[in-house]
Amino acid sequence: MEQLAIQGGPKVRTEPFPKRTPFGEREEELLIQAVRSQNLFGKSGTFVKELEKKFAAFHGTNYAQASTSGTAAIHTAVGVVNPNPGDEIITAPITDPGSVMPILMQNAVPVFADVDPKTLNMTPESIEANITDRTRAIILVHLFGRPCNIDEVLAIAEKHNLILIEDCCQTHATKYKGRYAGTFGHMGCFSFQQSKHMTTGDGGMIITNDEQTYIRLKLFSDKGWDYQYMGERDHAFLAPNYRMTEMQGAVGIAQLEKLRDVVERRIALGKLLNELIADAPGVEVAPTPDDREVSWWNYIFHVTGHDPDEFCKAVSAEGVAMSAHYIRDPIYMRGNFLTEKNTYGSSGFPFDSTYVSRKYHYGPELVPNAVEGLRSVVVTALHEHMGEDDIRDIGRAVNKVARGLAKTR
Ligand SMILES: Cc1ncc(COP(=O)(O)O)c(C=O)c1O
Repeated sequence: MEQLAIQGGPKVRTEPFPKRTPFGEREEELLIQAVRSQNLFGKSGTFVKELEKKFAAFHGTNYAQASTSGTAAIHTAVGVVNPNPGDEIITAPITDPGSVMPILMQNAVPVFADVDPKTLNMTPESIEANITDRTRAIILVHLFGRPCNIDEVLAIAEKHNLILIEDCCQTHATKYKGRYAGTFGHMGCFSFQQSKHMTTGDGGMIITNDEQTYIRLKLFSDKGWDYQYMGERDHAFLAPNYRMTEMQGAVGIAQLEKLRDVVERRIALGKLLNELIADAPGVEVAPTPDDREVSWWNYIFHVTGHDPDEFCKAVSAEGVAMSAHYIRDPIYMRGNFLTEKNTYGSSGFPFDSTYVSRKYHYGPELVPNAVEGLRSVVVTALHEHMGEDDIRDIGRAVNKVARGLAKTR
């Protein structure tokens, strides 16, 4: 048994891992075309429109509406739901604030469904258990490139007459039962932030099949204002400006052209890593059911037989960066916007108002499986510019540490 690097032994990996380089000549070419067109305003240009058209066609949906971020895309979808103040929207406890804050920004109340402690995805059972007569919508977050049990959630949404919004900000172009995640609900929302499978630095998109939904998406993205649907310069309702620029549109077109290749590469590398670490002692990998792909935004697994912090320190010492706990606590405990109702000035709105029908308390007891999952989960980078040798080094480091720590126990 080789001595662990953290105890002075040789490192598994001495070279740095390849950097992800998402932008190439095609992005440059289209970006230059956009700049040379002397117009970077998406609404009167061609690039954003072309990206929307191609993004919809890629997914096989009727419509796509560009946005400025994943958060903006989800806010726009919530704007389409048009909740009354105090209405509830069910979302995930393990996610980015972009799946939560838009609910509050429309004066609705976030309610958190619990998750599977290994995949960290919301469970249909917990979603259904959290439905009340104030529930209007579900934001179903597909985490780390893994689609949730979409069919079951869709059936629950239909049974209770709720709008289903799929948050695909970490799960682009990933198939569930042969179709891309994001195409099952009323709306599918995507982030094009730098770290995502497809990126424009920042940016986002919403897809839908329903024309009325699309019209509202379009209006909500542009101060309630749209020449095509409104005719005169009127503003249909209260809404922000989330218009994408031609620069993002141009880069987005180039990104979409290679998106599925990027995703397939991540799926293959993830499968390899799953196999490599399957027998490492004290380590658990969530199984992948045959009916879906996992496209790994980052790669996660669970350290249940060792201390996850100690484990990650030892793997990092081997030259493979690894961190424990992802967001550490349920997202609503990161900051005080929910725990202390720090929303609009000192009003505590909508909680401290007559619009809500009950008292809300945001503590860890709401989601015991999420707390358990966050305790053991560890995260490491996996991307399309890595090679199989890189993945084998990650596998070797995990196995070496798992066996080395098991021995010292
Ligand atoms: C699951 C999820 N939802 C929403 C968002 C928000 O996206 P953005 O950062 O583009 O606003 C992210 C971003 O990381 C995310 O991972």
